[in-house]
Amino acid sequence: MTISTAQLEAGGLRLDITEAVATVTLSRPERRNAMTPAVWQGLAAIGSDLPSRVRVVVVRGAGPSFCAGIDLRMFSAEGVPGEERLSAADPELEARIAAWQEGFLWLRDPAIVSVAAVQGHAIGAGFQLALACDLRILTDDAKLCMKEPALGLVPDLTGTKPLVDIVGLPRATEICLTARMVSAQEAAQLRLAELVVPAAELDGAVADLTAALLATDAAAARATKQLLAQAGRNTLEQQAAAERRAQATLLRARAAVSASDR
Ligand code: ACO
Repeated sequence: MTISTAQLEAGGLRLDITEAVATVTLSRPERRNAMTPAVWQGLAAIGSDLPSRVRVVVVRGAGPSFCAGIDLRMFSAEGVPGEERLSAADPELEARIAAWQEGFLWLRDPAIVSVAAVQGHAIGAGFQLALACDLRILTDDAKLCMKEPALGLVPDLTGTKPLVDIVGLPRATEICLTARMVSAQEAAQLRLAELVVPAAELDGAVADLTAALLATDAAAARATKQLLAQAGRNTLEQQAAAERRAQATLLRARAAVSASDR
C-alpha cells in the first residue's frame, strides 16, 4: 500500500517526516479529531509506507483535544458522508474491523518507537490510539476515557491488551466498565503516562524524548524493543535465551558490516 495525499486528506491526517522522525497529526480539530474508517485506513497506510529511516513516530492531535474517539455520526441514520458503515448485518464485519485495527497495530513495530502526545481528551478510539503507542506524554489537563461500554460497544481497536498490561486486570476492568474519566495525574500514577507536563511544555517534552531515543544505537534499540516485547510471555529461562540470541545476532551483524567496510 502506498499512501497518497488524497488518502491522508480523506482521513484528515497530516504526515511530516524529518530524517528519522515521523509526526502523524489527526487534523480535524473542529470535530475534536473524531475518527472514521478513513482515519484508520489512513493510519494503516502510513504504517505500511513508513520509510525505513524512521525510528520515532509521534502521534498527536491538532486543537484542544487529542481525539474524541469514533465519529458519533457513524451511529446515526445518516452516517458520515462517504464513509463505511458499522452494520450488524455486514457479513464481513470482523474482517472490516481487522482492517481498521491495522491502523493501530503497526505502532508497536520494533523498528520504531511510537510516542503519543496527548492534550485535552483521549476518548474511546482516541484512548486506544494513545494505548497503541509505546510511550505517552500527557498534558496536565488531559483526560482519558474508555467510553465504549457506555455506548454498548467493546473497545476493539487494540486497546484492551495494553491497558491490562499497564494497569492490571482489576483497574482495567474498573476503568472500562465504569467508562469514567481518568485524569492526567491518575494516569501518571497508573503508569498510563511516562510524563505529565503543562500544555505549554508538550512540544519541548516530545522533542527531548525524541532526541534521547535517537541518541541510542538504532540496531540495538530495535533488538532491545523486540526483547522487551516478549519478556511478559517468556519464562526467565526463555527470556535469558532470547537475550543471548539477540546479542549474538546484533554483534555478528555489526562485525559483518565492519568487515565489509574494510
Ligand atoms: N464525533 C463527532 N463529532 C464530535 C465528536 C465525536 N466523537 N466529539 C466532538 N464532536 C464535535 C461536536 O459535535 C462539536 O461539533 P459542533 O461544533 O458542530 O457542535 C465539535 O466537535 C466540538 O465539540 P464540543 O463538545 O463542543 O468540544 P469540547 O471541547 O467542549 O468537548 C469532548 C470535547 C469532551 C471530546 C466532547 O466533544 C465529547 O465528549 N465528545 C464525544 C466523545 C465520545 O463519546 N466519543 C465516542 C467514544 S467511543 C469510541 O470511540 C468507539
